[in-house]
Amino acid sequence: MTLTRKVLVTGGAGFIGSAVCRHLVGSGCEVLNLDKLTYAGNLASLRSIDDAPNYRFARVDICDQAAVAEQFEAFQPDHVLHLAAESHVDRSIVGAREFVDTNIVGTFVMLEVARGYWSKLPAARKEGFRFLHVSTDEVYGSLGEDGLFTEETPYDPSSPYSASKAAADHLVSAWVRTYGFPAVISNCSNNYGPYHFPEKLIPLAILNALHGKPLPVYGKGENVRDWLYVEDHARALDLIVQRGRIGEKYNVGGRNERRNIEVVRTICSILDELRPQAAPHERLITFVTDRPGHDHRYAIDASKLETELGWRAEETFETGIRKTVQWYLDNEWWWRPLREKVYAGERLGLLTAAE
Ligand SMILES: NC(=O)c1ccc[n+]([C@@H]2O[C@H](COP(=O)([O-])OP(=O)(O)OC[C@H]3O[C@@H](n4cnc5c(N)ncnc54)[C@H](O)[C@@H]3O)[C@@H](O)[C@H]2O)c1
Repeated sequence: MTLTRKVLVTGGAGFIGSAVCRHLVGSGCEVLNLDKLTYAGNLASLRSIDDAPNYRFARVDICDQAAVAEQFEAFQPDHVLHLAAESHVDRSIVGAREFVDTNIVGTFVMLEVARGYWSKLPAARKEGFRFLHVSTDEVYGSLGEDGLFTEETPYDPSSPYSASKAAADHLVSAWVRTYGFPAVISNCSNNYGPYHFPEKLIPLAILNALHGKPLPVYGKGENVRDWLYVEDHARALDLIVQRGRIGEKYNVGGRNERRNIEVVRTICSILDELRPQAAPHERLITFVTDRPGHDHRYAIDASKLETELGWRAEETFETGIRKTVQWYLDNEWWWRPLREKVYAGERLGLLTAAE
């Protein structure tokens, strides 16, 4: 390891990646953020660190092997946190190609470049090198009314998104077994918090409610997700890359299962308090056709991460969602350009009759 830990982050202009960059830069690491800046990448999310001396950004597509290799050679990372991905299930239903390209082929390129770089490191640095592949609990498929996903749950992905992430996880495991490559995998439940692109349920509900627009809830809103505040996830990833065991998987989750309808109602009641003139916000809730292949329930058993590495989520859903709603009220400069120019809240992921 070099004196100051050098961490290469992919997808650092995205929702979780930007939280990871802010966390790492704040803790004194030298950070290189590689991001293609797709519709989901937003450099405004990095405004608080973009002139820090220990932060650098390069616009790179992770599928471009030569460009990625050049960055590895120039930066000489100790750790890699690989987050770049296409991440929205609804978009994967109507256009899976980019999910296959970035999530599968892009991960392959990252593994190949990192393996070539690692194999030539001097012994001491080679020993300390780690590659953390950031994945999702969606690779496990859907749960019934009870039970939890553990690291041993068999993979059973339902959507093109989760299938592409599952494929990437398998590649990472194969690189560990075949080449002895020092990688670790994390599988996390649904994240929420500041700088979340307003196509996902929580920011979409907050912003639509603020604008008096319908709050779309899929099906009857009975689907259950296990919510984790994004900064708790960023801390978990930093811990896993430093202390996780090579070849292991770590589930990350905050024990915060909520039905989607409860999530939207909670947002409405916080807004009723903070914006009483528009109360009751619940009148805006609208049930819409369910997502095809919509998994019923996800819930994470994070006890391996908790007992082995001592991680704990700091936010409960109640504290985290209140902070999140307040953040959107206070940071219109961040979300207004996205609502106006990138995504205005229209429904995605519906199949036509021909499909
Ligand atoms: N959001 C969640 O709830 C959640 C939960 C568990 C795991 N994950 C995983 O965490 C990671 C980050 O998720 P997120 O929600 O922050 O996603 P995001 O969509 O907000 O960000 C993805 C980032 O990757 C970049 N990117 C996309 N294609 C790229 C390419 N070819 N080359 C370089 N950069 C590229 C985008 O520009 C964007 O900045 C993903 O791997 C996702 O599968 C997300």
